[in-house]
Amino acid sequence: MDFELKTLDAAGAAAEKSDVLLVLVTEGFKAGKDAVSKLVTSALAARDLEPKAGKLLQAYRCEGIAAPRVLLAGAGDGSGKKIQAAVAAAAGVLRASAAKKLTILLPAGSGDEAVRAAVCATAESSYVYVTTKSKPEGRELKKVVVGVADAGAGRQAFGRAKAAATGIEFARELGNLPPNYATPTRLGEEAKKLAKNHGFKVEVMGPKEVEKLGMGSFMGVAKGSSEPLRFIVLRHEGGAKGDAPVVLVGKGITFDSGGVSIKPSADMDEMKFDMGGAASVLGTFRALGELKPKVNVVGIIPSCENMLDGSSYKPGDILTSMSGQTIEVLNTDAEGRLILCDALTYAERFKPKAVVDIATLTGACVIALGGVRSGLFASDDALAGQLQAAGDAALDPVWRMPLDDEYSEGLKTNFADVANVAGRAAGAVVAAKFLQRFTPNYPWAHLDIAGTAWKSGAGKGSTGRPVGLLLEFLLAQEGGAVTKGQGKAARSKAAA
Ligand code: BES
Ligand code: MN
Ligand code: ZN
Repeated sequence: MDFELKTLDAAGAAAEKSDVLLVLVTEGFKAGKDAVSKLVTSALAARDLEPKAGKLLQAYRCEGIAAPRVLLAGAGDGSGKKIQAAVAAAAGVLRASAAKKLTILLPAGSGDEAVRAAVCATAESSYVYVTTKSKPEGRELKKVVVGVADAGAGRQAFGRAKAAATGIEFARELGNLPPNYATPTRLGEEAKKLAKNHGFKVEVMGPKEVEKLGMGSFMGVAKGSSEPLRFIVLRHEGGAKGDAPVVLVGKGITFDSGGVSIKPSADMDEMKFDMGGAASVLGTFRALGELKPKVNVVGIIPSCENMLDGSSYKPGDILTSMSGQTIEVLNTDAEGRLILCDALTYAERFKPKAVVDIATLTGACVIALGGVRSGLFASDDALAGQLQAAGDAALDPVWRMPLDDEYSEGLKTNFADVANVAGRAAGAVVAAKFLQRFTPNYPWAHLDIAGTAWKSGAGKGSTGRPVGLLLEFLLAQEGGAVTKGQGKAARSKAAA
């Protein structure tokens, strides 16, 4: 899809040739003398339109307006969130009209936030998954003109929004692929393709290399599958040489059957989305490839299936992680933390400024936060603050969760250094506490995206979250913004 940012007022929008003109109307709407203003004014006066976000009015072949279809959409106070809601409300009509070219007139006074929301919401609502359909009917919308009062002023936000939309869509596409397509091998190939197209460094390791690294925990999970595991490392070196990188670690379970601790059959297909963390890392790199910001970023993806056969790992098995810590497997369905812990240990070699892992880790997080906010856990307050701010700005919000040491009590076992599960209480926090044991040497944050990475039901599909947040966070690091956290002593204590 092709986006264009254009300087347009209501009169300019009236003259703009396209299939649909979408006019976003805020509470403070000020009318001019043009046909669009007149239409809005009379619709508001007749109460056929309200400026409340989500309200919609359609008009057809209006005099003085070049586009045959006009959609007036309430956009509330014009905030990013309201613009997003307005575009989402218009999306159904847009799809039904099979429009190829859309012009969006943003409210007067719109800034970067509105531009970003308009671009991302349009991309989001027009995406159609077609890859494994025999008669693909793809996205109709080809061209979107975003009209603002001063296109020059919105240029940077517009470029970033387009990159974010591209990255989000890349993550969604990978997430939506069936598990017999999106195998660990395929994820490795996608990483190599990204590297080739955008100049990243890449390394894709297989079982032999991973064994050499001593990743006994990761290998334990992969044992029951005939798909070979992959350990992917991508590097964007946009910053100064020697600048400590931010490391992103994405959970890449391409199918989670639960293993011997098998899951119930209902909705098990949704466990193809268990590589959502990995998809978000690849999607973020896709966006980095567009923008090439001056930051150093490493993406790490441990990827395998969690399956069951005669060689599967089983409850009671003790795995030796790369860190040396031994782990008693009490439930083979708590596999995400077992592949992530070795990746977190591997991350140490980059002497990172911060490590953020992203994982569809626990059903408990879905219960706690639903599909609205991802769970954020962090050993470092500055890092947590930056991630929260990035999430708010990108309309990809998180909610910070606790990491009190008392939550680790249940992970004690007589047979190893740590068990992989405790009781059902506070399951999302316990999982985070498990991961924290492997992160004593850098500021660390964990995003549990189990509730936000995909949607169930009629609109079942990947959301591409949290690519928006991650990109925003990384762009904010440009120019060397460092995380000044609690320091190593406090972190190690927290991890003990
Ligand atoms: N991938 C799942 C988490 C999940 C479940 C995400 C449902 C979204 C929806 C993860 O590997 C898992 O199975 N976690 C277990 C942990 C439990 C055994 C401690 C869970 O949440 O049930
Ligand atoms: Mn599982
Ligand atoms: Zn899982």
